[in-house]
Amino acid sequence: MKQIAVIGVGYVGLVTAAAFADLGNKVIALDIDEGKIARLKRGEMPIYEPGLEELVRRNVHAGRLSFTTSYSEALDGTEFAFIAVGTPSGADGEADLRYVEAAAKSIAQNMTAPLIVINKSTVPVGTGDWVADIIAHNQPEPIPFSVVSCPEFLREGSALSDFMNPHRVVLGSTDKEAAEKVAQLHLPLRAPIIVTDLRTAEMIKYASNAFLAAKISFINEIANICEELGADVEEVAVGMGYDPRIGPLFLKAGLGYGGSCFPKDVKALAHMAEEKGRHPQLLHAVMAINADRRTMAVERVREMLGGDLEGKTVGLLGLAFKPNTDDMREAPAIDIAKALIDGGAVVRAYDPIAMDNASKLMPNVTMCADPYALAEGSDALIVVTDWNEFKQLDLERVRDLMKQPVIFDGRNIYDPEQMCRLGFRYRAIGRPSKCAEQQSTETASV
Ligand code: UGA
Repeated sequence: MKQIAVIGVGYVGLVTAAAFADLGNKVIALDIDEGKIARLKRGEMPIYEPGLEELVRRNVHAGRLSFTTSYSEALDGTEFAFIAVGTPSGADGEADLRYVEAAAKSIAQNMTAPLIVINKSTVPVGTGDWVADIIAHNQPEPIPFSVVSCPEFLREGSALSDFMNPHRVVLGSTDKEAAEKVAQLHLPLRAPIIVTDLRTAEMIKYASNAFLAAKISFINEIANICEELGADVEEVAVGMGYDPRIGPLFLKAGLGYGGSCFPKDVKALAHMAEEKGRHPQLLHAVMAINADRRTMAVERVREMLGGDLEGKTVGLLGLAFKPNTDDMREAPAIDIAKALIDGGAVVRAYDPIAMDNASKLMPNVTMCADPYALAEGSDALIVVTDWNEFKQLDLERVRDLMKQPVIFDGRNIYDPEQMCRLGFRYRAIGRPSKCAEQQSTETASV
């Protein structure tokens, strides 16, 4: 049994802490937010993540997981300290490292024995060396330590299974012995372990997220072209995905990527390149295409409602940036609602779990009790998040409740042919309309 401290109990920190505890280690998770720690001690989760509450409860009960706000308690007798604090975007897209800096200083001031500091937060390339400097300069007396980069590849909504079944574990350090010890912690996960230098490990994280974001923007660009040429992007993606050089994942066209990672990381990578005088043209195109998705959704609905949003009631099916999370960070719903309201529409919404978070960000949007209450009296619905429960709706009931049967499916969750048969005016992303009447108007207008 190893003793581990985890600094920061956000998505990454809490999942890391609970998972390492479940692997049989003794873990103390620290956060400077007293409210969060008090809630965790009462068994309440500060975030929604499937399976997390049960995992935390089980490991607290077994005495392997505890919470504190005290660095001296967290570092007492520990050999490993994971840093998993937030790195929000600064004004120019650069990562804001104030929380990493504060954690590094506190570690330096409170460590009493040799320590391996492992950075899990996504940090600009070079941060590991900077953290080592901060620790060295803030220790009251020199105690040996090493810094290892171990970027996380967890997705919200499946973070626990991603942690327990990683495709790879990346470790970066100049101290091979420290990297080897961190590798030992990960052995039960039976994943390939890549040991490299600090900067390369940090870069692997940015390059991976930027590549995935590029894949999404690529298929969204293809969707735009499909719409003009009468091809179906869903089938194009399947046809492309069988090629192992391309792969089927992250080829889902829609309203673009959101969340706390891709938007921030692509921006930060571009910023790092520009600081060094490079011109990251592809990264800028990825971001521009993504921003356009939100404007496009509003324009489509405006067209479907005869060119004017004034006085129209538009319902958003889904608010979270993706299903299975209540996270609203960089969610397309925010920009879409704002643009609809600016255009004169009345906006309402329903989301299975994100409405509490969303109402703080969207005070002018009325939240509805369920999808049918949302449909009632709406001139149009937009599928913003592809929650499974929206795929099972009683669509005839939805149609009968709506003022006008208009649906813009921003996540391609419905079958265009069926929607047409049911009498909806329906448009999706990168898919031709299957309504003969709509097709003929579209052809006529070309
Ligand atoms: C992402 C990465 O997938 C993780 O590997 C990484 O660890 C994490 O960022 C991070 O850096 O912490 P996450 O942001 O939780 O994870 O969400 P994803 O499931 O990757 O989805 C991101 C966004 O892309 C969502 O808005 C989703 O709707 C969108 N997306 C995803 C698409 O539009 N199309 C796709 O085909 C896939």
